[in-house]
Amino acid sequence: MYQRFRRTRLNNHLRALVRETSVSVNDFIYPLFVRSGEGIKTEVASMPGVFQMSIDEILKECEELKKLGLYSIILFGIPDVKDSVGSDALCEHGIIASSVRAIKKAHPDMFVVTDLCFCEYTDHGHCGILSHETVNNDATLEISAQQAIVHAKAGADMIAPSGMMDGIIETLRNALDNAGFENLPIMSYSTKFASGYYGPFRDVAESTPSFGDRASYQMDPANRREAIAESIEDEAQGADILMVKPALAYLDIVREIKDATSLPMAVYNVSGEYAMLKLAGKHDLIDYNRVVMETMVSFKRAGADIIISYHAKEVALLLQNA
Ligand code: PBG
Ligand code: ZN
Repeated sequence: MYQRFRRTRLNNHLRALVRETSVSVNDFIYPLFVRSGEGIKTEVASMPGVFQMSIDEILKECEELKKLGLYSIILFGIPDVKDSVGSDALCEHGIIASSVRAIKKAHPDMFVVTDLCFCEYTDHGHCGILSHETVNNDATLEISAQQAIVHAKAGADMIAPSGMMDGIIETLRNALDNAGFENLPIMSYSTKFASGYYGPFRDVAESTPSFGDRASYQMDPANRREAIAESIEDEAQGADILMVKPALAYLDIVREIKDATSLPMAVYNVSGEYAMLKLAGKHDLIDYNRVVMETMVSFKRAGADIIISYHAKEVALLLQNA
């Protein structure tokens, strides 16, 4: 006697009934890159379909996103001027604060997440303030709290610290609470690896470190126990949502953290993952749409509740036409 697994695979309806995992447009957060100016929409060579946009173009883009049923975005800023402490990120007239105000004014129904870091704003390209050629953790915590308040006052709906500083969640939670933003959620980039998959992002965000790398603050890809501990620590400090980044090469970690927490989990399907599929699709090496959907399902199956992805618009369109 053997099990006939094929019995429930024999037609479309039955396959749909027994399907364990689904992908919905509601699962997605779409990354946007904003810079100053007007009428600017510049495609990034390493990421076809991804653009640096000025605020007026971002407002039009939000219109497009809503038509697709996408209401959540995460914003990255490219400032005009970079300096050693990332002043633009601390200024209420900086690129992110200005963008958030403009978006929430024109599109109050959009859910605007802000990436909170310093690498796009510092002239050295590291994720915080330097002392002795390395990022000073506690000095960076102080200015991170200031940045969080700038985002909150501008109207951000959720703050997402991505710099991998120790103590960042507790610091931001206290700062936000003390300023009356106790209802503003924090999505932590809680388990973020020092990854080669971020290459194309650094072209878009113009955030490649001018010396060294990020290995003294982002995690070693080889470490599993530490990866779990990082997220569980952020839960203890008060994070509302946890994250694993990158996604594809780390699905084992997604599953393990999911099983160790009851918080919602996000994955960041990063720039290098996007670029690989894009280029393979361009050269007709894969059935692009099919591989994209298979990849999204793998994130959900691994335990992700939220997918941050440059594919979000394509996926929304595929789901509409399905
Ligand atoms: C900045 C940040 C990075 C990404 C998101 N926030 C890059 C980095 O750490 O260099 C990567 C996103 C991507 O590759 O798509 N801290
Ligand atoms: Zn950074």
